[in-house]
Amino acid sequence: MVALKMIELKGVSKKFDGIVALKNIDLKLNSNGVYVIIGPSGAGKTTLLKILALLSKPTEGHIYYNDVEVDDKAISPLRRRFTMVFQNTVLFNTTVYENIAYGLKIRNLLKDEAVKRIRDVMERLGLNGLEKRHVSKLSVGQQQRVSLARALVIEPDILILDEPTANLDPENTAVIEEEVLEFSKTKTVVMSTHNVRQTFRLADRVAFLYGGLLIDQGKTSILDDPVDERVQRFVRGETGYALNHG
Ligand SMILES: Nc1ncnc2c1ncn2[C@@H]1O[C@H](COP(=O)(O)OP(=O)(O)O)[C@@H](O)[C@H]1O
Ligand SMILES: [Mg+2]
Repeated sequence: MVALKMIELKGVSKKFDGIVALKNIDLKLNSNGVYVIIGPSGAGKTTLLKILALLSKPTEGHIYYNDVEVDDKAISPLRRRFTMVFQNTVLFNTTVYENIAYGLKIRNLLKDEAVKRIRDVMERLGLNGLEKRHVSKLSVGQQQRVSLARALVIEPDILILDEPTANLDPENTAVIEEEVLEFSKTKTVVMSTHNVRQTFRLADRVAFLYGGLLIDQGKTSILDDPVDERVQRFVRGETGYALNHG
């Protein structure tokens, strides 16, 4: 399949019963860099990430991959190229090593290549020595690093992370942020956060969501001196958790 050049959402809306979770979203992502979706709780961030990961279908609107509309037939081959790490990942009830190896086993990767990749990703995420540890014995930060390791080891084209460092301490946050930046040099990361400082540290592009509306998007400078009053209040920490972390 052709390499990713662009993903585009046009007029995407998502409704749940009476709730409008996303309203008429237009968004374009290119083939590398970090795209941050920022906004307060309930803004629609998780819903938007699931649609980008092709795990949930929009109620209205269109998704394009390299300018070709993603239809039902295209979803399953494309989905393998996207990996989403959820905010509260449930790890498999086994060891760290088995958790990371799982995605490679089901892809029938050659053993030597699999062992090499697992070793490499464990090293990068500071998980060496924890191979045989049962995941239930890990700290929250270690569990989140295992979740990310499990995603990175299958080498997706697009890594989608839902608030990957919410509730983590600075050390764990730093390890994860470093991997996000490394991955984004050659591939695309889309992540959500409610943390303004983290957005400045990581984002190449930022989209501000509020009440299901994409209020503004662009470089991080849109958060420096926001024109929109909702963005202003958020950046000042008045409407969410903007200043609580990091
Ligand atoms: N499966 C669902 N069923 C009903 N409502 C949902 C569902 N998922 C999300 N919502 C609603 O959609 C809105 C956006 O939610 P979400 O995308 O989780 O926001 P965020 O991730 O920014 O906190 C919220 O009002 C939420 O309650
Ligand atoms: Mg969410």
